[in-house]
Amino acid sequence: MKRNVLFVDDDTNVLQGLRRMLRPMREQWDMHFVDSGQKALEFMSRVQVDAVVSDMRMPGMDGPELMLRIMRDYPDAVRFALSGYSSQEMVGRSIAPTHQYMTKPCDEKKLVQALELAMNARAFISNKAVLEKITRIEHLPVLPRAYVRITDELSKCDPSPKAVGEIVGEDVGLSANILKLVNSAYFGLSRTVTSPQQAVIVLGVNVIRSVILSLHVFKSFETTEERAFSLTKLWEHSLRTASIARVIAKAEGLARDDADNAYIAALLHDVGKLVLNAHCAEEYLVILRQVREQNRCVADVEAEVLGLTHAQVGAYLLGLWGLPTDVVHAVARHHEQEPEPAGLCAGSMTYFANLLDHDIFIFNAHYARPQVSAERFAAIGGPERFAHWREEAVALNISEEGA
Ligand SMILES: [Fe+2]
Ligand SMILES: [Fe+2]
Repeated sequence: MKRNVLFVDDDTNVLQGLRRMLRPMREQWDMHFVDSGQKALEFMSRVQVDAVVSDMRMPGMDGPELMLRIMRDYPDAVRFALSGYSSQEMVGRSIAPTHQYMTKPCDEKKLVQALELAMNARAFISNKAVLEKITRIEHLPVLPRAYVRITDELSKCDPSPKAVGEIVGEDVGLSANILKLVNSAYFGLSRTVTSPQQAVIVLGVNVIRSVILSLHVFKSFETTEERAFSLTKLWEHSLRTASIARVIAKAEGLARDDADNAYIAALLHDVGKLVLNAHCAEEYLVILRQVREQNRCVADVEAEVLGLTHAQVGAYLLGLWGLPTDVVHAVARHHEQEPEPAGLCAGSMTYFANLLDHDIFIFNAHYARPQVSAERFAAIGGPERFAHWREEAVALNISEEGA
């Protein structure tokens, strides 16, 4: 079935330009073009829209106001801002109700890819009622500003690590947190990193970008009052899992992009737990109680009680944000017993890194030790390889207190 994509801009030249540029998509998308926020809402009252791409600066109802109304009335529509130069104030207002913020002029490939990824993200949530609940969440964390700016810098043909370091450096709190983290045992660096620029050079732009994203996501949930688990422990588990994924990706000689994706996916693999705990608090307490009492896997109990798992919710959130497909799939499948069709990839690294962290570092008698299926072992070349990875992970020497 074709998807309905609605474009909103008061400048009809921009709309014509988009129409021309996106002609190759006409087999997959039904595209609609309107020149005001009012008309957009009127259209949406008649037609079910999958994604809205809107200008921000418009007379009458501006972009942020339109996005806010769409979020309230049509929460499962994907919301993209496409804007030229905007004042900081406008960016600040629009970023809240917007899934992604893109700047004009925008190239076709980038826009199409980002929209497709975001629209596909909904497929991760099979339970309609829960999807409804999650999409209505007003406080679903939004992409941090520094992350958006770094991504913009990376889309240039000649991205500069120095510029990325400067973006991080502008935010004093952020750079302090990053420096603290990269100098911690999780990264095992042989020398002290003293500036954000240096951190970018030593660890790479993608690792820094994912660290910014995960620091932000965890921070967004700090204020959740009822918490069924310790945020600090989950954060430490995520960091250790990411370090393990990095070390086994290195041991296997994965290409830089695949290794980076493995790190990002491992770092963010459990973010769905934060969302579920914050927005289905009562059910989540029941779920974790059952996990402890019956010594079962969290994802199995979630599926029984809620009809979906934290892996799916995490994948949904990361998909909306346009993270690489490999990362989104790795997160979605990190509790699946079926092996990754791609063999040694971000998905298998994430799956085994999570398992190794549970095996080596988490001594929780109430949690069931995850069992590895024979197929999963076979896909990586047998238990011997796993044993080798385990040695690598143990050598990281990142105990609960040591990090
Ligand atoms: Fe998990
Ligand atoms: Fe986990």
